[in-house]
Parts: sequence; structure tokens; C-alpha cells
Amino acid sequence: MAKPKKVILGVTGSIAAYKSADIVRRLGERGFAVWVAMTKDAEHFISPLTLSSLACKEVYRDTFEADAWKMPHIALAQEADIFLIAPATAAIIGKLAHGIADNLLTCIALATQAKVVIAPAMNTQMYQHRIVQENCARLKALGVYFINPLKGKLACGTTGEGHIADVDTIVDMVVGLVGQD
Ligand SMILES: Cc1cc2nc3c(=O)[nH]c(=O)nc-3n(C[C@H](O)[C@H](O)[C@H](O)COP(=O)(O)O)c2cc1C
Repeated sequence: MAKPKKVILGVTGSIAAYKSADIVRRLGERGFAVWVAMTKDAEHFISPLTLSSLACKEVYRDTFEADAWKMPHIALAQEADIFLIAPATAAIIGKLAHGIADNLLTCIALATQAKVVIAPAMNTQMYQHRIVQENCARLKALGVYFINPLKGKLACGTTGEGHIADVDTIVDMVVGLVGQD
């Protein structure tokens, strides 16, 4: 049997963070080993316990946790076959576009040689803001893959572009980029 490919799933502080639970489950069903790394603000939206239960592993939450001497940002980054950030906030996209490595996810993104895939989720005005669009373009030019958000009803009550892509689309993109099943 083929060795499972390793996905790091980065989860950030978007209302769409609840979808990350389904992404973990579905990637597991497709034969991937999934490690979850979440930002502090992601914890406002989904509990680490939910994600660790579904991933059957501890969830990485902080660059400076008890085992910091093991440097999880480097260990995870080196072992991953792919780094998927879903959902990705405007904040993390901005940090990544400018090399700001001030949390676990941004450190992993700089330290990894794996493919990086971003599924943005945010309010339409935020997503269409010139700064966010420029940040996305900059990351695309650097070889980062994007799974574009959909038009739809958003949590803020408006309808427009910014709804995170379907879980199926996200999982299929990961399979397409690194293979599994
Ligand atoms: C209810 C609520 C929903 C939010 N949803 C989003 C979102 O979908 N996308 C986004 O970019 N920011 C969203 N934000 C703002 C982020 O949570 C905020 O920028 C946060 O600092 C992002 O941190 P992180 O990227 O480190 O997780 C939301 C904030 C609140 C209070």
C-alpha cells in the first residue's frame, strides 16, 4: 500500500472555518494524513478539539507551545507534501504576500518546499479590495495555487464573491496536485 501523502491544513479566523472540519474528514477518506495548524483567531470559530478528533492527531496552535524546542514549524514544513490553507483570511494572504512570518502558519509557509494552496474566504468588499487582489496576484506569481472563492450568500448578509470554494473542489485540487486515493 502506498504511503499516505501528508497534508498540512492551515485554518484561519474566517466564519468559513467550520468547513475545515469537513475538509479534514474528506482528505482522510481520500487516504491523506492530515495535520492541522490553526491561528489563534481561528479558535474563535472552530475548536482545536473538533479538528484534532477528526484528524486523530494533536492540532498545532502556536509556534511557542510546550514542545517549541522541536520547532514544529520546521518539522511540519519539511515533512509535508502539500500545505493547504482553507479558509484563508485577508490577513494571512497579506502576511504571506509580504513574507511576514509572525505565527505558525506563516512560518510553515516560508519553511516548506511543498506546494502551497490557498482557499480565500471573506466579505466581497474585502476580497475585491485592490490590496487583497494585489496580494493574491503576487502570491500567484510566486507559484502559490489559489482555489477561487464563489459568489454566494455571505455570513455578513450580502451576496457576492468571497464564499469559500466547495469542499469537493478543495479536496479535488489537493488530489490533483499531489495524488492519492
Ligand atoms: C464574525 C467574524 C467573521 C470573520 N470572517 C472573516 C472572513 O471570512 N475572512 C477574513 O478575511 N476575515 C474575517 N474576519 C476577520 C478575521 O477574523 C481577523 O482579520 C483575524 O485577525 C484574522 O486572523 P488570522 O488570519 O490570523 O486567523 C472575521 C471576523 C469576525 C469577527
